[in-house]
Amino acid sequence: MNKDNIILGIESSCDDTSASIIKNGVVLSNVTAGQEVHEKYGGVVPELASRAHQQNIVPVIDLALKNAKIELKDLSAIAFTQGPGLLGSLLVGTSFAKSLSLGLNIPLIGVNHMKGHILAHFIQEEGQEKTVPKFPFICLTVSGGHTQIVKVLAPLKMEVLGETIDDAAGEAFDKAAKLLGLPYPGGPLIDEYAKNGNSDKFSFTYPKTEGFSYSFSGLKTQFMNFLKKGLKTDDNFITDNLEDICASYQKHIVNYLFQKLKKVAFSENINQIAIAGGVSANSCLRAELKRLGEKHAWNTFIPKFDYCTDNAGMIAITGYYQFLEGDFSNQNAIPNARMKVEE
Ligand code: KG4
Ligand code: ZN
Repeated sequence: MNKDNIILGIESSCDDTSASIIKNGVVLSNVTAGQEVHEKYGGVVPELASRAHQQNIVPVIDLALKNAKIELKDLSAIAFTQGPGLLGSLLVGTSFAKSLSLGLNIPLIGVNHMKGHILAHFIQEEGQEKTVPKFPFICLTVSGGHTQIVKVLAPLKMEVLGETIDDAAGEAFDKAAKLLGLPYPGGPLIDEYAKNGNSDKFSFTYPKTEGFSYSFSGLKTQFMNFLKKGLKTDDNFITDNLEDICASYQKHIVNYLFQKLKKVAFSENINQIAIAGGVSANSCLRAELKRLGEKHAWNTFIPKFDYCTDNAGMIAITGYYQFLEGDFSNQNAIPNARMKVEE
């Protein structure tokens, strides 16, 4: 009889401490503790993030085990986010995972966070068989730190076809939100205000970038100048137009993301198209992918909300695939803040 593969995944790359148990590819638990401490700073403060991970990691792992009704002795391996991310944050998860694997004498698996976002599409829920993308597929990974168009050839074989040359799409949302006086992270708030806004009210220009690459830093400056101009003639420009500003800005980012994604899909002649990462929670992005999928006969894959933003389910599922291939780390493993998705 085959033994069950039970993986504990640990995620601590940025400001979410998360733990998940995945048994034979099926998620049994996925627990995440966010960090409100950053809200008032308009971005993640690395030192505060690593301290909060230290406080959260034991209770979060404990709860993930309890929710899954799994004991430490049942685990087959420990998967942890090795990178990319904030070094101090990554160190907490890495050190914890190393000690636990040593203590339990089970394999340690260093996981790439960006691979995790993509492989979140393969997490199966108990009692329901989900359709997963067929290889090769194209994934637009949009998060607070990355914006990439990735060709996924196999679970652990990925190739970046295009990426941002500066800021990430999530940063474009968060920085605009900060200028609007909204707390961090502003992406979900822009999404919320945009729901009642007119997306045709204001227009922005697209950055000119080569091939399949993106650029978002100019958009931030453009948005700042747009607000300054509005506030010159109307002190209440932001409050009077908040919903329309959010809707127009959000639509602009989404259109820009799809401009390049469409190019890639056509040039690669691939009709399996997925989105992943925190920004894939955006309702406009999700709706537009669905619309384009119907128009171009694409099979589209939109992650469940729980698996869009940072979570350990995606780390556990990637760990599960690495486990099947015997792709293990050892006690010399160190975090890699700039780890590439190909690694
Ligand atoms: O993947 P993630 O949780 O962390 C990173 O790996 O960076 O992504 C976080 C990013 C933030 O920039 C946040 O504002 C953005 O995802 N985000 C959204 C939405 N939900 C999260 N952006 C736009 N609309 C949303 N609904
Ligand atoms: Zn992420």
